[in-house]
Amino acid sequence: DGVTVIDHPLVQHKLTLMRKQETSTASFRRLLREISTLLCYEVTRDLDITTIDIETPMGPMSAPILEGKKLVFASILRAGNGLLEGMLDLVPAARVAHVGLYRDHETLQPVEYYFKAPEDLENRLIIVVDPMLATANSAVAAMDMLKNRGARNIRFLCLLAAPEGIRRFREAHPDIPVFTASIDQGLNEKGYIIPGLGDAGDRMYG
Ligand code: PRP
Repeated sequence: DGVTVIDHPLVQHKLTLMRKQETSTASFRRLLREISTLLCYEVTRDLDITTIDIETPMGPMSAPILEGKKLVFASILRAGNGLLEGMLDLVPAARVAHVGLYRDHETLQPVEYYFKAPEDLENRLIIVVDPMLATANSAVAAMDMLKNRGARNIRFLCLLAAPEGIRRFREAHPDIPVFTASIDQGLNEKGYIIPGLGDAGDRMYG
């Protein structure tokens, strides 16, 4: 139904360490970077490949490479940048878009403060990253912004999702598959994911 839970043992192990209250900012950042490479591996596992003719030291062969235009990773600021780093470790040639949104703490509505993306989004796969899908207000707004700039082929990758957020997101953007390491219990009255890991931006940046 368009939602993939990435249950790889290394992902689950690292996620548990990230959830722990006593995990320091330094460890949290390192874990997020590590986990993001594993998530990247899973979210890209069905990419199309084509073949090119190359010469190895032993002779010619027809060898596989990624097909099509370079990927775009779109980070929802601030916390998306924690996922972005590990993704770029794995796909260093990817293009990058930055979407600046913060949640108004009272209304939980997203406030846009920055948008910068490569020009030609039409023919590229865009993988949008943000550690948290809570109410989904931020992610839904980010997708609207990217679609308004021509994006047509989008995937959303997060670390933690609330069931409410997944429902809302899939209603608003049924064409965009969601990848997450966990679907948690739900949201509290302040819109935080329970049991979650707290505020990802604060845990990364203070
Ligand atoms: C957090 C998180 C998501 C958003 C999720 O960002 O990184 O972007 O909230 O909540 P939602 O699904 O209810 O919209 P926050 O607004 O705290 O900004 P920050 O990343 O800059 O700290």
